[in-house]
Amino acid sequence: MKEKTKIGFAFLLAAVILFVLNCKGKTETAEKSTEVKEQAKMSITKESFGKTPDGKQVDLYTLTNANGIRARISSYGAILVSLQLPDRQGKLADVALGFDTLDGYFTDHPYFGVTVGRYGNRIGGAKFTLNGVEYKLAANNGPNHLHGGIKGFDKVLWEAEQIQTSDEVGVKLTYMSKDGEEGYPGNLACVVTYTLNNDNELKINYEAITDKPTVVNLTNHTYWNLAGQGSGDILSHELMINADKYTVVDEGLIPTGENRSVKDSPMDFTEPMPIGSRIDQVPGGYDHNYVLNRTGTGLSLCARVYEPTSGRVLEIHTVEPGVQFYSGNFLDGTIKGKAGKVYNKHYGFCLETQHFPDSPNKPEFPSVVLEPGQKYQTVTVHRFYTK
Ligand code: BGC
Repeated sequence: MKEKTKIGFAFLLAAVILFVLNCKGKTETAEKSTEVKEQAKMSITKESFGKTPDGKQVDLYTLTNANGIRARISSYGAILVSLQLPDRQGKLADVALGFDTLDGYFTDHPYFGVTVGRYGNRIGGAKFTLNGVEYKLAANNGPNHLHGGIKGFDKVLWEAEQIQTSDEVGVKLTYMSKDGEEGYPGNLACVVTYTLNNDNELKINYEAITDKPTVVNLTNHTYWNLAGQGSGDILSHELMINADKYTVVDEGLIPTGENRSVKDSPMDFTEPMPIGSRIDQVPGGYDHNYVLNRTGTGLSLCARVYEPTSGRVLEIHTVEPGVQFYSGNFLDGTIKGKAGKVYNKHYGFCLETQHFPDSPNKPEFPSVVLEPGQKYQTVTVHRFYTK
């Protein structure tokens, strides 16, 4: 090779190497900037949702993640007002039943999206005895007490605070339930925190402390329809519940104390089954507490729901021992929800992670008693994806 050609070749090689290195650098920078952009894409905004009947300001918080998932939470009732989720084509739909305006939540509605407390689900005979003292609660469900009473945690205004870290956006809601409120003993300071991250997880964390022994069982009462709220019934959603047993109930839906195997019965969702496949064999539809299969005390798989037309999947993990599966049996077309949609029977389902119904009167069930000096803490994670 001639000297001139050699120099030319070396020059060309160096240029190629430089070009490749430069490209790599650019890709890395591009990747980094997408990362920054995606973090930036997680946002939280606050707007006015209106005023309570006694003139107090109610705010609506919108949490958005990098994948376009958007959760809206109201400081009144600590309510999940809406949840926008992409389908397998990326098309968004609101998968939670509820109302567009705050006024809807002042009506007599069946707990759409709300935080339920001080005690989620039923307490038999609307009373319980703790340390030898009988406490009488409101009988707001026949002779029984349901979802915290006449003015439960779903009908009070919570103090709200925004949260934004590098991993998640959220809203922290605080409420002080007074000693004697709805008949319950003890001042109970409660904190409910909703957070959303870029792994498409909506986490609800609950904490409470008391100054007198009391009972606590907090949950969220979202009615899901993964095909989109108001779009039809949920009977073709495929449901798996990680539970071999459920608590048998009497006609007032109070547990008898028997935990029965789901095996060979329409209660069995250990393998995914369309909700509607055996619902006509369950008088009144599903409204039962399942005893979750658990190992340890940490988060464990509770349920998975797949909606075949949209491909949306909801997976629930919880530290709670039970889940109330309610198939929207009492929805009857009398309520007009978001975008004017009418909510007919079975247009939504609930999976309320919880301690078992009537636990204050069932010493054999996991305890719901909270003592002064102890901290109540529970968490449920909703993970969303498509398939
Ligand atoms: C209960 C149902 C009740 C519904 C709405 C569910 O948690 O199990 O019986 O009708 O909430 O109040």
